[in-house]
Amino acid sequence: MDIKLKCPVCGRELTDNGKTLSCEKNHSFDRARQGYVNLLPVQFKHSLDPGDTAEMLKARRRFLDSGKYEPICRSVLQAMRKFAPENPKVLDIGCGEGYYTSKLKDEFPGEYMGIDISKDGARMACSRDKDIFFIVATASHIPVADNQFDCLCAMFSLLLPEEYARVLKQNGCVVEVTVGNDHLKELKNIIYDEVFFKNKHYSDCTGFFDEVQRSEYRYRITLDNAALKDLLLMTPHFWRIRKERREQLEATDSLTLTVDYWVRVLKKK
Ligand SMILES: C[S@@+](CC[C@H](N)C(=O)[O-])C[C@H]1O[C@@H](n2cnc3c(N)ncnc32)[C@H](O)[C@@H]1O
Repeated sequence: MDIKLKCPVCGRELTDNGKTLSCEKNHSFDRARQGYVNLLPVQFKHSLDPGDTAEMLKARRRFLDSGKYEPICRSVLQAMRKFAPENPKVLDIGCGEGYYTSKLKDEFPGEYMGIDISKDGARMACSRDKDIFFIVATASHIPVADNQFDCLCAMFSLLLPEEYARVLKQNGCVVEVTVGNDHLKELKNIIYDEVFFKNKHYSDCTGFFDEVQRSEYRYRITLDNAALKDLLLMTPHFWRIRKERREQLEATDSLTLTVDYWVRVLKKK
């Protein structure tokens, strides 16, 4: 692995000794049996087990493996092929269980790394793809030295311009995927009495990035009952749905939904 990692406690360079990564101040981090390294010190945690839960991640894996969101992956690949160099160094931020990280690496080879604040996410991602280095870390303090990556992916996760610009090389890019107003609107109409549309409000990155692409994509998918339950479980709607609405959905045989998403590409200044 040709990415310089830094100690999440003191910021010094981390050396990889196989089973352990450590810095000259003797802060040391064990490699888990599955291959990931936990670089999330307790002071960066807002809860005991932050991020998506194992149950959500398993539902996400079943859903994504069905291929229903494959067009999203293709849109990201299109952007990467246009804006990233051949054989890029890529960091997938908020990589979850690693579906996109692995697919992107297979289609656009390079050196890939994934980070997620969820330990279960990193563990599952390792089981999906042994050729990618996954770490548990927060996007707000990425334990990586400055100017390391050609491309960052932030797919349905978060955008933190200053920190992302720090770890990107000059002219490196961020490919960001966010949901559009109509995303899963048919499902939201069942879950909520009233669906509010927030006008898209992108975080201001002008100090660090130039926006070089912004495109909206839409298509429709039809889900059977099992896929519908998985989709519900992997989204925040699950925690908001009322019992009778959940029962209604659990009794639905199939539902056709709109997938609506934006891909934005930001180039480091
Ligand atoms: C909606 S999921 C998207 C996962 C994956 N990108 C995908 O599309 O399948 C958001 C992911 O971001 C992770 N996450 C949340 N806050 C984070 C943070 N501060 N740093 C890193 N990951 C974070 C969650 O654990 C979760 O896996």
